[in-house]
Amino acid sequence: MDFDLTPEQLSVRKLAKDFADKEIAPGARERDRNETFPKDILAKMAPLGLLGGPVPEKYGGIGLDYLSHALVTEEIGRADSSVRTTLSVQISLVELTILKFGTEEQKQRWLPRLCKGELIGCFGLTEPEVGSDATKLRASARRESDGWVLRGRKMWISNGSVSNLALVFAQADPTEGHKGITAFVLERATQNYGSQALHGKLGLRSSDSSELILEDVCVPDKNRLGEVGDGFKIAMTALDSGRYSVAAGAVGVAEACIDASIAYATTRHAFGKPIAGHQLVQELIADMVVETEAARLLVWRAGDLKDKGKPNTRETSIAKLYASEAAQRAADNAIQIHGGYGFSDEFPVERYWRDARVNRLYEGTTQIQKLIIGRFATGIDAIA
Ligand code: CAA
Repeated sequence: MDFDLTPEQLSVRKLAKDFADKEIAPGARERDRNETFPKDILAKMAPLGLLGGPVPEKYGGIGLDYLSHALVTEEIGRADSSVRTTLSVQISLVELTILKFGTEEQKQRWLPRLCKGELIGCFGLTEPEVGSDATKLRASARRESDGWVLRGRKMWISNGSVSNLALVFAQADPTEGHKGITAFVLERATQNYGSQALHGKLGLRSSDSSELILEDVCVPDKNRLGEVGDGFKIAMTALDSGRYSVAAGAVGVAEACIDASIAYATTRHAFGKPIAGHQLVQELIADMVVETEAARLLVWRAGDLKDKGKPNTRETSIAKLYASEAAQRAADNAIQIHGGYGFSDEFPVERYWRDARVNRLYEGTTQIQKLIIGRFATGIDAIA
């Protein structure tokens, strides 16, 4: 693998960095305090192509390679994990899944509008009583004349209440177990699915997390994504994509923790010198630097495999697991370095810590990643 970025990769990273510094980071604290969804930011990202980075130009995107997609996602994550989450769902879970599994007509119908931000997408897999064991979905899809009737509830759905397009997974044939799960794309304008925003979250307060309510929602068969019974594989493939972007975003959080810690430690004095001159503070910073760089390399390796079209589930899970945990440790170290100030939102590190926590939960918990990695290592299935 060549570790030198190409001029195009450097240029798109700079574009994302400049945008993140100017448009995203400055308002992050206020949005977090007020739980304000970053609608205006999305509107500014669309003309730059940042809502459809890896989507080919013919479908409205800018055709970035996966490594570039990670570079952009890291920069957005460095500024604000709530914005990054919104984008990860929009791009990695929704757009790339439609790109991979949609018919030509479906791609033309939805992708350009998603890339322009005219449609905000969400990914409806998790349910109130089904999280890690995603094969056991209770939401049902009943065949009826030329379409389907969907019934059930989806929980913790990022972008749910602000969405006007939902990629939803439902059980079409319970006798088939996970091979009955089927994927559908719902448009709120015509399918009129319900949603209820969830409040009181520890972090990601300015991103939207919602419950989706499907009460006999009629969906035409032309909105089915993939074949009947392909839904579970579609969801898993989507998560291979989503976990990659969570990992890249977590690297961004860890990098932000380093930046904030160095800025603070080189100006704050104790015992007659900047605290950065104390060995135990340097240890905290050095640990953050090492783990952040290791996490970034794991993300790049997964991206390299994706760019080459090679299997990457194992490498993506490794990157997601390590980067999520490293970001949390970095945020914890950053608070330690800031002392009492780190405990208040006068400095951003407490938000980094709160926001980093969910990376270890969503898109497959740390424990699920370990079971996937352990299964690859041993050949023994410890999941079911
Ligand atoms: N790509 C393609 N297919 C895959 C796959 C992948 N990565 N992983 C599994 N599959 C296929 C398997 O090949 C298998 O196919 P066959 O039936 O044809 O043999 C089928 O799917 C079943 O796979 P498993 O035997 O691996 O299923 P399992 O039950 O042992 O384990 C699991 C599955 C890994 C635990 C999975 O259920 C999982 O990842 N759970 C976590 C769910 C999750 O991440 N939820 C996050 C929700 S999304 C979210 O957070 C949204 C948000 O808004 C932020």
